Amino acid sequence: MDKLIIEGGKPLKGTINISGAKNAALPIMAASLLTDDTCVINNVPALRDVDTMVKILRALETKVDRKKGNTVVIKGPCGKTRAIYNLVSTMRASVCVLGPLVAKKHVAEVSFPGGCIIGPRPIDLHLKGLEGLGVEIKIKSGYIIAKARKLKGAKIYLGGHFGSSVLATANTMMAATLAEGVTIIENAACEPEIVDLANFLISMGAKIAGHSTPTIRIKGVRRLHGTNYNIIPDRVEAGTYMLAGAITGGEVFLKNAKPAHFLAVIDKLRECGVKITEFKDGVKVKGLVASSIKPATVTTLPYPGFPTDMQAQMMSALCLADGISVITEKIYPERFIHVSELGRMGAHIFLEGPNAIIRGVKALSGADVMASDLRASAGLVLAGLVAKGKTQIHRIYHLDRGYEKLDNKLSNLGAKIWREKE
Ligand code: EPU
Repeated sequence: MDKLIIEGGKPLKGTINISGAKNAALPIMAASLLTDDTCVINNVPALRDVDTMVKILRALETKVDRKKGNTVVIKGPCGKTRAIYNLVSTMRASVCVLGPLVAKKHVAEVSFPGGCIIGPRPIDLHLKGLEGLGVEIKIKSGYIIAKARKLKGAKIYLGGHFGSSVLATANTMMAATLAEGVTIIENAACEPEIVDLANFLISMGAKIAGHSTPTIRIKGVRRLHGTNYNIIPDRVEAGTYMLAGAITGGEVFLKNAKPAHFLAVIDKLRECGVKITEFKDGVKVKGLVASSIKPATVTTLPYPGFPTDMQAQMMSALCLADGISVITEKIYPERFIHVSELGRMGAHIFLEGPNAIIRGVKALSGADVMASDLRASAGLVLAGLVAKGKTQIHRIYHLDRGYEKLDNKLSNLGAKIWREKE
């Protein structure tokens, strides 16, 4: 396994190209199971999670071709309907094949999904959505076994204890495109990745309205056709590099970033004193010297609130703020595994339930730290970029799941960062 080594303290300067959104690309690739025609999907980031989705689709006997320049070509029909444990358990988004498989093939056997260690991640809402469409669900030997002779449109409320669910909305919406009649999903997720998925499905001939609102209306069609589609830029990648520019006192242009997709992050950083300018083709950030970052109160919420996927990165920044900050995690109350690692670097963070109370320090110091989940790892990279001395981040496998060429992109901005074998 590789480790990342960072010598902190270099202000980042230059332009960075924001890649396609991982969390849009994964369900969209799964949605191609809804047709036997060819789907050409562009701007798919080269990530380990995308490799996993390719393996799952190939294991379902779908033809998948990866072309140069981040294009993936997927051609059905899929021959198999069982997605096995070895693949599915490595990535939460694998569960996205459930809805398309049962809608197209009337049967699906999908292992319970895995993913990051960020606390319990139930799938009750996925099952509720599909059952609402008339799918019969059984759980057997760790597999979700879904069967339906015919899917029927229905009114389905998809709110859970923590609000809407992104991938449960995705699964239900995908299945409903081929159901008989009209489906209305109430308390649907409004994330840009759901809107992108809806637009992809519409480009295949689906009839969908209200995506980007909590009420999505889907009129089922008999069949969907192939398409050629471009994935939206990754708002979490953009937000991560925005913070990297901000806390290193740099000046970075995030090319292709769509400010409308991460306004809550932009707004919070402005509150902290960071200068951010929005342009048609991207966003520019002008950073601060660390101790002039103002403290903030951050609560993670479903979109358009502050994204949980930016919580760890924001925490690294607030470790250096001039005062006390509070972060409340309302999506994954246990998503704080980065806290102890930041402590090794000299951060003062006190955890109480879903709240992290952060007392800003003048500087962080480089240390050996362990990457534990994708966004926690990104938070540690940010801390390493601004820390005094050398930080070694071990087990960076998670970073490769979700950030395309992270070390190259940061090196191009002037960071001293490199990879070594452990
Ligand atoms: N939840 C339920 N029941 C369900 C599903 C979810 O109670 O059936 C709860 C979850 O436990 C959580 C909340 O609902 O408390 C929201 O979870 P959601 O279902 O929205 O998460 P997800 O769809 O599994 C996606 C992203 C995550 C991101 C979350 C929240 C993908 C592939 N994953 O997961 O991204 O954190 O939405 O925005 O889209 C990441 O990229 O690092 C990542 C973890």
